[in-house]
This record gives sequence, structure tokens and C-alpha cells, in this order.
Amino acid sequence: MSTDGLKAQVVFATITGNNEAVADNLVEILTDKGLQVTKSEISQTEPEELADYDVAFLVPYTYDEGSLPEEGLDYFDDLADVDLPELTYGIAGSGDTFYEEYYCMALDKFDKQIQKTGAKRAGELVRINLYPSPKDKERLTALVDAVLKEAQ
Ligand SMILES: Cc1cc2nc3c(=O)[nH]c(=O)nc-3n(C[C@H](O)[C@H](O)[C@H](O)COP(=O)(O)O)c2cc1C
Repeated sequence: MSTDGLKAQVVFATITGNNEAVADNLVEILTDKGLQVTKSEISQTEPEELADYDVAFLVPYTYDEGSLPEEGLDYFDDLADVDLPELTYGIAGSGDTFYEEYYCMALDKFDKQIQKTGAKRAGELVRINLYPSPKDKERLTALVDAVLKEAQ
């Protein structure tokens, strides 16, 4: 089955732009593969919207020793109450290795939360140090490929 025409949502949270750059990389990769892509900032997004998509990518930053984005807390809480048995998702995000054991911890928290919806994860969590490099774009391409393979 072709992935042409599948619908993807990329939900991101950012303060200084690194995670929007990760989201933009994902949008470009998905668009090049023929998907219809919507990019959405987390505080402007409802988790229920995910039901309208075939695949989704969550791209949060991590703050204050493993904390979730403040403006994404409503989204995070409401996510647990949505039923998404048809959705395949991937998770990526930028943090800072300086924070050691808290590095990109919001990715793990979002992964646990979205699993409550019945959605299926594909690929590993893609942790990116600060601004995404060309090498990181390759890792994001591999994530997209894993998600699309699972979604077919
Ligand atoms: C006060 C503060 C706390 C932070 N805490 C963490 C953390 O616990 N874990 C982590 O991986 N990164 C942490 N970071 C780094 C940011 O997640 C990192 O700079 C990220 O690229 C920011 O994303 P953004 O540019 O999309 O806002 C922290 C940054 C600041 C300023």
C-alpha cells in the first residue's frame, strides 16, 4: 500500500525554536513522501484532533529537570482520555545532554501518556541535542520510515 495521501499531524512545543526546527524537519520529510501534513503548536491543539490523522509525531521540549512544557500540560492531561486505536505515532524532541539523566525526559513522559489511547508507537524515541543537525535529520527520516511502515 502507498503512503501517498495519508494524513499526518506534527505537534510541537518550543521556547527557543529548536523543537520547531525538529517539527519542520519532520514536515519536510513527510511532505516529500507524499503525505498531507499539518503542523500544530501544542497550546493551540486538542488531542481529539489526532483521531483525524493516520500518523502523528509529538515533539516536546524538556524543562526544569525532566518537566513537561508548561503550555502543553492541558494537552498532556487530556491525551489520556482519547481513544486512538487506529493511530501510529513517533516521538522526537530536542533537549540538552547537559541535563544528563533528565535529557529529553518529556519524550518518555509523552510516550507513556499516548500509550493510554491505544495508539501504536513505531521507532525509537529520537532524542536530539539542541538544534537538529543533518545527522539528526537522517535519524528523523528513519523514524518517519518506521512509522509509515507500521501504518500501512
Ligand atoms: C531552565 C532550563 C531547564 C532545562 N531543563 C532540561 C532538562 O531537564 N532536560 C533536557 O533535556 N533539557 C533541558 N533544558 C534544555 C532545553 O530542553 C533545550 O535547550 C531545548 O533545545 C529547548 O527547546 P526549544 O528551543 O524548542 O525551546 C533546559 C533548559 C532550560 C533553559
